Amino acid sequence: PETPRPRTPIMGWSSWNNFRANISEEIIKAQADAMVATGMHEAGYTHINIDDGFFGGRDENGLLLSHPGRFPNGMKALSDYIHSKGLKAGIYSDAGINTCASYWDNDTIGSGMGLYGHEWSDLNLMLKEWNYDFIKIDWCGGDWMGLDEETRYTLLGNMIRNIRPDVVYNICRWEFPGKWAIQVADSWRISGDISNTFESVMHIVDLNADLWRCSGPGHVNDMDMLQVGRGMTYEEDKTHFSMWCMLNSPLLAGNDLTKMSDETLSILTNKELIAINQDPLVYQARRLEDLGDLELWARPLTSTMSGKVAVALLNRSDQPQIMELDLRKVAIDSSEGYVIRDCWKHETSSKSTQPTKTYEIPAHGVVVLKITGTNPPFNIFQFEKGGK
Ligand code: GLA
Repeated sequence: PETPRPRTPIMGWSSWNNFRANISEEIIKAQADAMVATGMHEAGYTHINIDDGFFGGRDENGLLLSHPGRFPNGMKALSDYIHSKGLKAGIYSDAGINTCASYWDNDTIGSGMGLYGHEWSDLNLMLKEWNYDFIKIDWCGGDWMGLDEETRYTLLGNMIRNIRPDVVYNICRWEFPGKWAIQVADSWRISGDISNTFESVMHIVDLNADLWRCSGPGHVNDMDMLQVGRGMTYEEDKTHFSMWCMLNSPLLAGNDLTKMSDETLSILTNKELIAINQDPLVYQARRLEDLGDLELWARPLTSTMSGKVAVALLNRSDQPQIMELDLRKVAIDSSEGYVIRDCWKHETSSKSTQPTKTYEIPAHGVVVLKITGTNPPFNIFQFEKGGK
């Protein structure tokens, strides 16, 4: 029997943000080693995803080759290595004739490496012979050729399901592709490429805010790979990670796992935040209040009792701010009593019946809370569930 695909967002590491197309067998193996040695694997990270740059042309029969110098033992030996560590392996291609690397650092490496004209043989090679468990399919070649996205990604998705139904399929478009993607893929990008700035992170949050209805078990909005540990401040990294957790994004670390600081590791392995991201209800957080610099985000959590809600208080300004949380707004009936867990401070409050609470939020910072109480009837999460 096939292993079912995960219903919650995937967690792992991807090579692009830190290494771009300059990857090698050595680099990838070192990241797999570090994922286990640092405790990332134990915290829930499983995927080692190889992005653009492993290509080495095609032989005279059109068979896809890996780069002989950088991947001397081939891609199968590498996925074997990754699997031997108890991890999953991911790979990359393009829906058109070339991959994006033909536009980036080196203008020849990705040309002719896309799936166009080699769909069945490339997918079989990567997913069956090379045994990769995840595939990200980019759109630089598709865009250049003027292909129709829905037709193309549906065709490729059907082939992938046919070859190996347990493979996780990611669509890489630089905007939300359309509702058709929900039926076709496990996740899809909703933005252009992330950079390591607070502005970029907030821009992606904004692009995703109205897409919460498209996210659910087995299909989520992909906010792009993480920039935690790649140049933003500690508070900004925490905010970035918190919002990716609250909004059900795949959590794919993009930093060099062999060289991260304790602070970076502590953000990436915050178990309370990860539990929100991996909550089986897979309900993408919604922006319930927008006060300019200050925003209130919340999502219901699965629980055997009713009344568990995750809340993020977000401060976009470059000054610390005071924000009042009205429990009613996040569907908690304060008169019944509630308990608040601060997911970054790792502190639990004593039981309270106060209708509001006040928080100080650092500049570019966030406060993430898990509130356990009682939902009032006809609360916002039941009322506006949409397609759920
Ligand atoms: C595009 C994608 C990135 C990365 C690069 C590789 O820009 O959006 O995530 O895969 O291509 O060239």
